[in-house]
Amino acid sequence: MEHVVLVSSITARTHPHLGPAAQNLAVERLLQGSGMAWTILRPTQFASNTLRWAPSIRGRKTVRMPYADIGLPTIHPADVASVARAALTEYGHRGRTYTLTGPERVTARQQVEFIAAALGREVPLVEISREEARAEMTPLLGAEAADAVLDVTGGDVNEALRQVHDTVARVTGSPARPFHQWASENADAFR
Ligand SMILES: NC(=O)c1ccc[n+]([C@@H]2O[C@H](COP(=O)([O-])OP(=O)(O)OC[C@H]3O[C@@H](n4cnc5c(N)ncnc54)[C@H](OP(=O)(O)O)[C@@H]3O)[C@@H](O)[C@H]2O)c1
Repeated sequence: MEHVVLVSSITARTHPHLGPAAQNLAVERLLQGSGMAWTILRPTQFASNTLRWAPSIRGRKTVRMPYADIGLPTIHPADVASVARAALTEYGHRGRTYTLTGPERVTARQQVEFIAAALGREVPLVEISREEARAEMTPLLGAEAADAVLDVTGGDVNEALRQVHDTVARVTGSPARPFHQWASENADAFR
């Protein structure tokens, strides 16, 4: 294989002690030592993670979440794909590691508001404690992954995770897509 683009995670840098981040870091190192040409993408949390609320919103139930007011620069998945395409088809990206974020920080509460605006109706939200969220997530993800998700979405957020980067614009020539665009494009998933 001539050139591999790996979708890793920003948490490989910001939270390397967490299990999922350590796994991505291990794959990065394998690729770097493989002898193949490589480009590593380290995106922040995907806008599409909000699809986890779709069953509640479709069912007209209240969306429940912890850390509703922690702002993070969520990325549109299409921007990850656009950077990967540029890395594979244009010169200058081999041996580079790119941190990828959206154009601005957005809180979970604002994400719900953008989805509500795209639907044209109210979406009720209630903030729950970390303990309540952990109890709901653990049967699905396991305790370690649940704690890791809770840490990087609000419980242990650091400045490196909050920082907005202009890498998408620099690599692709187009500005990173904001969360409200993803919400409009994907409103049907919440109807
Ligand atoms: N979600 C985020 O916010 C986020 C942020 C930063 C980085 N990332 C990174 O992005 C990558 C994808 O994350 P995600 O959240 O989109 O994960 P996801 O929702 O679990 O999706 C993973 C995808 O990979 C497929 N897959 C898993 N094992 C496979 C295998 N052995 N062979 C072929 N396909 C396989 C799954 O297929 P099935 O559905 O058929 O199982 C699924 O489509 C991960 O490396 C993650 O670390 C994610």
